[in-house]
Amino acid sequence: MAQKKTIFSLEKGYGMKLTVKKTDDGSSTIFREDLKEHYHSTFGAIQEARHVYIQAGFQQLESHQNRILEVGFGTGLNALLTCEVATLQKKKVVYHSIEKHPLKEKIVAQLDFGRERKDLLGKLHEEKLHKAEWGKETEITSYFVLKKIQTDLCTYELEEQYDLVYYDAFSPDKQPQTAGNVDSRHFTKSCHKSFYRRNSYHLFYQRNC
Ligand SMILES: C[S@@+](CC[C@H](N)C(=O)[O-])C[C@H]1O[C@@H](n2cnc3c(N)ncnc32)[C@H](O)[C@@H]1O
Repeated sequence: MAQKKTIFSLEKGYGMKLTVKKTDDGSSTIFREDLKEHYHSTFGAIQEARHVYIQAGFQQLESHQNRILEVGFGTGLNALLTCEVATLQKKKVVYHSIEKHPLKEKIVAQLDFGRERKDLLGKLHEEKLHKAEWGKETEITSYFVLKKIQTDLCTYELEEQYDLVYYDAFSPDKQPQTAGNVDSRHFTKSCHKSFYRRNSYHLFYQRNC
């Protein structure tokens, strides 16, 4: 089993300390000190994201044109893997992702989701997904359009509809302000395992704020 090694540490402008770490499958994650929470499973960030969001979420979509909402862009890993699979399978995706605290370039530069292999994945991650302008739809590949939205889930007014929601904010145990009641806790747990319900975003949104 690979060692969970700390490879980078930095105080962030948001007044919280973030540390980049390597997970057991060799991919990176981030540890947020104030919440004592990792962005991904330390057993494998890519492995977890593929299992939860790609296999249980994206691969269940039957249409070849889908709209996905992600809560918590973070490292961009879910966007990266979705972009990869959508492009390989020729399924068009419009992907909107909400993020309250976008990562600084110095942190992004330390993340490794394939950059060392100098493959499509690495190039996409650093050069396209993270450099895409915030608040604007950007074509990443001919099958994947990304819009990153810097906002707080609790104040953002969703107006659009989505086929699939990737709920990947921190757990309500760690961030109770994003989960108002018992219902929302239950709902959030379901979302963490990924789910899709056409037009269900209002339920999801209201319950969590
Ligand atoms: C568990 S991390 C996962 C991030 C990302 N999906 C990834 O794979 O790296 C949770 C993310 O949700 C963001 N977040 C937490 N609360 C939020 C809120 N209320 N509104 C928007 N983003 C939030 C955090 O800043 C963090 O980037």
